[in-house]
Amino acid sequence: MPHSSLFKLILLVNCLCMLIGITSCNTREQKFVIAFSQCTNEDEWRRNMRREMERELIFYPEVTFIFENAHNNLEEQISDIEKLLEGTIDLLIVSPLEARALTPAIEKAFDQGIPVLLVDRKVNSDKFTAYVGGDNQAIGRQAGHYLAKLLNKKGHILEVSGLLGSSPSLERHAGFIEATSKYPDIVVSKEIYGDWDKEPAKRALEKVIEKYENIDAIFAHNDVMALGAYEICKKHGLADKVKIVGIDALPGKSGGIQMVLDRKLEATFLYPTGGEEAIRTAMKILRKQAFPKIDFLPSLGINYDDALVWKNQTDKILNEEKVIALKEHRLAKDQALFNYFTLLVIALFVVIALILVVLFQNARKKRQLQRYADKVAEHNNELEEHTTELENTQHELEHRNEELEAQQEELSRHMEEILTLQEHMEQKQVQIEKTNQDLEHQKITLEELYSKLKRRNTAITDSLRYAKGIQQTIFPNEKELKQVFQEHLIIYQPKAIVSGDFYWMYQQNHQAFFVVADCTGHGVPGAFMSIIGYSLLKEIVVLKKIRQPHHILSMLHKEVVRTLKQLESKIDDGMDIVVITLEALKGVGKINLQFSGAKNELVYVNNQEIVVLKGDRQSIGGYSVNGKPTFKLRQMTLEDDQGVIYLFTDGFADTPNRRRKSFGSRKLKTMIVDSARLPLTQQQNVFTEALEAHAQDTPKRDDITLIGLKPSFDLLMDQGE
Ligand code: FRU
Repeated sequence: MPHSSLFKLILLVNCLCMLIGITSCNTREQKFVIAFSQCTNEDEWRRNMRREMERELIFYPEVTFIFENAHNNLEEQISDIEKLLEGTIDLLIVSPLEARALTPAIEKAFDQGIPVLLVDRKVNSDKFTAYVGGDNQAIGRQAGHYLAKLLNKKGHILEVSGLLGSSPSLERHAGFIEATSKYPDIVVSKEIYGDWDKEPAKRALEKVIEKYENIDAIFAHNDVMALGAYEICKKHGLADKVKIVGIDALPGKSGGIQMVLDRKLEATFLYPTGGEEAIRTAMKILRKQAFPKIDFLPSLGINYDDALVWKNQTDKILNEEKVIALKEHRLAKDQALFNYFTLLVIALFVVIALILVVLFQNARKKRQLQRYADKVAEHNNELEEHTTELENTQHELEHRNEELEAQQEELSRHMEEILTLQEHMEQKQVQIEKTNQDLEHQKITLEELYSKLKRRNTAITDSLRYAKGIQQTIFPNEKELKQVFQEHLIIYQPKAIVSGDFYWMYQQNHQAFFVVADCTGHGVPGAFMSIIGYSLLKEIVVLKKIRQPHHILSMLHKEVVRTLKQLESKIDDGMDIVVITLEALKGVGKINLQFSGAKNELVYVNNQEIVVLKGDRQSIGGYSVNGKPTFKLRQMTLEDDQGVIYLFTDGFADTPNRRRKSFGSRKLKTMIVDSARLPLTQQQNVFTEALEAHAQDTPKRDDITLIGLKPSFDLLMDQGE
């Protein structure tokens, strides 16, 4: 907000405050509520009293004035006072209709601490704060003396009283009697009550006028009733004779002064309403200023001569009052106008202030809008950038979309293919289900077959086990071996129950034969071959007494070919075999070793030295080798009984491990050399463990045979002729 605008706004607020201050400065004075319970407001005298009060109240704007009219009704006036006491009033003015009846209500107000100002009339109690009004008893006295003098101290006077029980009526009568009693020839009759009004007075007088035809004067307690008396007297032709006197002396056309001028009344006595004085005294009470408890207002008699002067004066006063009323009216109008303009100015200020506020807000909004506009422009730029980006993205998306559409087409094609495939699959499914059913049948058949086979297998296994027993009869037993060799080791592990490998021993005349053979195949065919080999060897060595290994092999070959009719059958089965003979050389004390091998070899280890005797490349048997194959004889003298002969088939070295790698011939020989110093029973464990460690759970590929023999010269010598 600019400083100038702020300054203007502050100035405006100040002006408004000042204005409000000026208009409300009076409110700083203490405010009062004055209530007035009037016994009646139906006659001119009382209306005059109220006008006077209101005129005086103009000087006391801080006063709120409450006016209650009891309409000449006792209950109504008591009720009016009770109600006023229930509210918040600061002072109560009362003109009581009757003295006695209104006394309790007046005392109640006084006892509540509310100042009570009695006007015109009194009550039968001292519990009131002040009285303002005429001295009614004095006025009564004045009237008595006046009439006595007017009648030359002799005559008959009729008294027309006000309301019975009202204090002015009582006091005026008392004063009148007090004065007339001083004139012995004056007679006063008091029989008529006019209730302060013309018509009741007329009605009461009408009733008794004939009785009082000789009266000389009438004293009425007020001018209104006096007028009524005049009218009755006139009606009865007594108007010129009877002198009538009243009280009040109101100005104006219908007032007592005019009645005197009209010769209707002989005289009237001034009875001031005391409206102004009552308000002044009330304000003194409220402002805690000194005031007289009884404030009697002055009175005097007015006859025809005085009335002329009074009329002039009172007319002037009335005119003045009219002028004043007019001025008051104008003043009120001016005041209203002033108030209107004041309000207008305030409204104008408010409007200007509002306009300024609106302008200020507008300016602020304008600045805000400008900021918004800047922001919007900024956003617009960003939006444009975004739009460009979006357009690019859209192009990309369109491109992608095209690609996707192409892909979708392709997918549709694939989908069709898939659907076709699915149909095929479903057909296949049907086929598979059918196949499954077939398989189920086959499974049942197979299970039946399996159980048959199982039975058959058991039978075969049983027969094979039996065959094994037969086959093992060809092997030398422990006892036989120990008769020839100091120590021996035999690792014999057939692939199946029966084996294609076999070993055979024969001894005679200090000579021992030992054969280790590996027949073609394994299992049953191998076993058959081994039996054939064994039979032929036995025939060759034992019966035909062929004693040199190479001759044994040559003959064995010939016999195998012949036995198996290989030349005709083209069966190529046979065996790889080593044959050794150990002979004790008597004179030398050493052992002569002869060796011939068909494919297989001999390893001799003594003192960590290894001697390998290689066999020939020729296998035993087979139609392909026509004629007589020759096998070389190799021999060596064993220097002592410490060396060990190792004979084996290829099963050991060919044993595969899990990675299908063979144990190996080289490794086998190294193992043999490394273990040569150990006893052969221990060597057997070493070799067996090495083989198991290598093969682990790999299925055997072939029959395995490894035999270690430690020959003994002495044991050979022990063998008899
Ligand atoms: C008015 C009036 C006067 C009289 C006065 C007495 O109501 O009747 O005429 O003087 O009351 O209280």
